Amino acid sequence: MTGKIFRAAALLLAVAFLAAGCAQQAPQTPVPTGTTATADLTKTVDDVKGALYKFGPSMRGVSDSFDNMYFAAKGGNWALAAYMGDIMGDYMEVTKVSKPGLYPQWDSFYKANLGDNSALRKAIAAGDFSAFDKAYTDTMNNGCNPCHAGNGFKFIRKIKAAAPEANLDYSVKSNASENK
Ligand code: HEC
Repeated sequence: MTGKIFRAAALLLAVAFLAAGCAQQAPQTPVPTGTTATADLTKTVDDVKGALYKFGPSMRGVSDSFDNMYFAAKGGNWALAAYMGDIMGDYMEVTKVSKPGLYPQWDSFYKANLGDNSALRKAIAAGDFSAFDKAYTDTMNNGCNPCHAGNGFKFIRKIKAAAPEANLDYSVKSNASENK
């Protein structure tokens, strides 16, 4: 008798679960198939790509972060200097998709001048301002500006900022390793 009641209860529970499962299924919207679907998708992807930042707006972030890096290093906030180097790379990530023809040139510039083994990163890691200053100037004169000239933007010549954008505390004492 108890067995029968138990089995009936189990059956009821199973039906209840099934019903709940069915109720949760969203109504199916017909998905277009074939060439129409592919054309729609291609157009959407092109629209999204067209709306992404290309080099111009992304470079604004690169340039401001590069300035911030300088004043952070000068103030002894080495973690902030390292962080700014990372962010410069982040600003340009989007151009991998929006400017695939030019991105590889940026990527090799970044690896050589801002990668882990670059003179700039080594100076930041060592907290050595005079080595940093030299590597910074070299990066600007031998990396940033030749790339502008080579791509038809000779008139965009980066110079060292005269004064910091005074919205960050560049004097927080830190080591590069604090930038995780
Ligand atoms: C791979 C080549 C390349 C490298 C390397 C490069 N740039 Fe640029 N940069 C460009 C191009 C191309 C433009 C113009 C983009 C456009 O508007 O179409 C530009 C534009 C700029 C602009 C003007 C954009 C604005 O919104 O004000 C600044 C500032 C700038 N770059 C700073 C830098 C700095 C600083 C560095 C080095 C740390 C650097 N760039 C490295 C290619 C490069």
